[in-house]
Amino acid sequence: MKPLGIGLIGTGYMGKCHALAWNAVKTVFGDVERPRLVHLAEANAGLASARAAEFGFEKATADWWALIADPDVDVVSVTTPNQFHAEMAIAALQAGKHVWCEKPMAPAYADAEHMLQVARQSGKVAVLGYNYIQNPIMRHIKTLIGEGAIGSVNHIRVEMDEDFMADPDVLFYWKSELSAGYGALDDFAVHPLSLLWYLFGHVEAVTTDMVKPYADRPLKEGGRRAVENHDAANVLMRLGGGISAVLMANRAAWGRKGRIALQIYGSKGSILYDQERMNEFELYQAEGRGSEQGFRKILAAPAHQPYDRFIPAPGHGLGFNDLKIIECRELIRAISGEPASIVTFEDGLRIEKSVHAMAQSFHERRWIEIG
Ligand SMILES: NC(=O)c1ccc[n+]([C@@H]2O[C@H](COP(=O)([O-])OP(=O)(O)OC[C@H]3O[C@@H](n4cnc5c(N)ncnc54)[C@H](O)[C@@H]3O)[C@@H](O)[C@H]2O)c1
Repeated sequence: MKPLGIGLIGTGYMGKCHALAWNAVKTVFGDVERPRLVHLAEANAGLASARAAEFGFEKATADWWALIADPDVDVVSVTTPNQFHAEMAIAALQAGKHVWCEKPMAPAYADAEHMLQVARQSGKVAVLGYNYIQNPIMRHIKTLIGEGAIGSVNHIRVEMDEDFMADPDVLFYWKSELSAGYGALDDFAVHPLSLLWYLFGHVEAVTTDMVKPYADRPLKEGGRRAVENHDAANVLMRLGGGISAVLMANRAAWGRKGRIALQIYGSKGSILYDQERMNEFELYQAEGRGSEQGFRKILAAPAHQPYDRFIPAPGHGLGFNDLKIIECRELIRAISGEPASIVTFEDGLRIEKSVHAMAQSFHERRWIEIG
């Protein structure tokens, strides 16, 4: 296979994360061709040139259509704000490129549906950036559940919290616009939903409450602008197999920095995980004498693959950006026609359908069955 030619649109938080992954995937995994970093697009030419030099891309442009038209680009990383995903991903797929698009697909469900339709027509690989499923610990939790280590799962609680919107004086920016989505639900809740999908399958029914902690936020140029979406949400959910679940998401939760706390309860035990301590999980198995039963803390180790591709020593720990490197390897696997652990546009659309059902249930004050 010739080296994949990479195009990157957007170079903010996630753009850098994708660039790190494309740069590192060969070094970490060895068994792939080193990708060729061909073309990078940013909102203005100066920033594009600066980032291309930093990230190691050959060409830079302020016109992302030029990147799409570049015959040397085989895969396009879309890491721009949510409202640009649909147009960029669709253009890339129609130009015959594979797409690695950040989550969520699009604020409007019809746009996300269109993305899937074009992906199907193109026959190209279309993957979403749900990196948390890539944690070797999460893979191991899935294996344990499959082996029946905690029996039959009946109840799940998952909380996702950060505090980047907790300060009422945070300036108004695109994340508070309805055109970017409902707020905590699609900015946030899609991540725990990707974990639930990975471990248990899709959500079947939901009922939701949402809250807007601050009615407006200051503008950079002075004055204030009304906040258009909700920073926190509580959702009751029903999953397949009669599993009852609770999802709480809050991006205005002071003190929480990167929390995705998962509690999984089964007939023979429990599993606890928190993304803020992503290199460990706790396992309780109702075995042996009750006098010695208790949670065991298990540290990430080479036995939890592909941790071993990064570090040979247990307990030393991976980081957030490493999950993107693993996701990148899985994407390359999918492009090569091999089985891959990814969230495709197909599954991504079902996650977004759940999010829209949550918002609908909030507005209509009732349970919604997701078809
Ligand atoms: N997977 C994850 O864990 C994760 C984490 C954070 C954000 N995200 C997602 O990543 C996406 C980007 O978020 P972010 O935090 O990196 O945002 P950001 O604001 O840090 O970066 C976005 C970048 O896109 C650039 N951009 C905007 N319009 C452009 C255009 N027309 N052409 C080229 N570049 C353009 C901006 O200049 C900016 O550099 C969002 O969809 C967000 O939901 C995913």
